[in-house]
Amino acid sequence: MRYNTLQRLIVLCLVVLVLSWVLFFMFFLQDPLASQSNVLYRMAGPLSADDPQVLKILKNDFLDLPSSLPYNISDNSHIGSQDFTWPWINEHLQEMFHDQHGGFFVEAGALNGVYLSNTLWLEKNLGWTGLLIEPDRESYKELKFKHRKAWSSNTCISSESYPKQIILESHYVVQKEWLDKLYFWAYRGHSHEMRQDNLNKEDKTKAWDFTYSSVQCFPVLSYLLALNLTTVDLLSLDVQGTEALILETILKDTRVSIRVIVAEDEKHSFNHSHMDRLGYVLVASSVDHIYVKKGDGILDRRNVKARIAKLKADKMTPSSS
Ligand SMILES: *[C@@H]1O[C@H](CO)[C@@H](O)[C@H](O)[C@H]1NC(C)=O
Ligand SMILES: *[C@@H]1O[C@H](CO)[C@@H](O)[C@H](O)[C@H]1NC(C)=O
Ligand SMILES: *[C@@H]1O[C@H](CO)[C@@H](O)[C@H](O)[C@H]1NC(C)=O
Repeated sequence: MRYNTLQRLIVLCLVVLVLSWVLFFMFFLQDPLASQSNVLYRMAGPLSADDPQVLKILKNDFLDLPSSLPYNISDNSHIGSQDFTWPWINEHLQEMFHDQHGGFFVEAGALNGVYLSNTLWLEKNLGWTGLLIEPDRESYKELKFKHRKAWSSNTCISSESYPKQIILESHYVVQKEWLDKLYFWAYRGHSHEMRQDNLNKEDKTKAWDFTYSSVQCFPVLSYLLALNLTTVDLLSLDVQGTEALILETILKDTRVSIRVIVAEDEKHSFNHSHMDRLGYVLVASSVDHIYVKKGDGILDRRNVKARIAKLKADKMTPSSS
């Protein structure tokens, strides 16, 4: 009998031991998968832009490596170099960067990576690399086929200082005679975040159709920290309306420096005096604005100086800059 009691005692001890280990693991060591899925939920917003787990998820799940394969770009997909503001932007970028070999760009609203691209020539001719951001799933698929030598991400830049999820309205051409034209991509380019100011716009032409999807967005800062970058030579923003909001958050951060900005301003929401206070000089202005960071050597160039002087004379730019 005595022996039996001892056996029971041992079994009891073992049970207690096992139970205490289970409890220890449950309460003291967090299951990393469980905590990752919590972060995934919280990435709808707001989590800090530099949260280490956000950066890890961004790098592992939302950033694709630059391609090492040859470009897959047929000649006629270059068409677009005569369209919209592309020639105007390209002229300015050539003027500023033609002699800079190597650099890093961030282009948001990258579309298929070729049509109206502001960064392809920097990559192809001057050996730059960068990050291409395109939220539309179909456009992104096409972008990946092009084998750009840049990082890419099927996400969007957050208009807030934290990651968030948005509803993207994607535009598709439905009129047959437009399908084979490259304007197809121009309409794709009208895809945009659903915001209060564009909720119930009805399109009567029926030339295109809409689909909706949920897309993860990250602040510019998160992408740069995830890629371990402190300087961006060119930030190109064509995101249908949130350009000024995006700049408002990134330009105040001292951890990263952005030299040149090209931003579309379809809604006339830019305030050049405010950009001046944020440390940027307006160098050219049309449907898009081009700004250069104060103190950058580009501003010392004769032709750039002449452009700035002209903008001042036309009272397009604040007198203090
Ligand atoms: C090149 O791109 C086309 C689509 O634009 C695609 O169908 C094709 O598979 C691509 N080729 C390679 C080698 O990636
Ligand atoms: C980030 O960059 C710094 C400076 O260029 C370098 O010392 C560091 O090793 C890099 N870290 C990673 C994780 O790549
Ligand atoms: C533009 O920015 C300046 C400087 O920050 C500010 O004083 C001014 O009120 C702003 N103008 C508008 C229309 O918001």
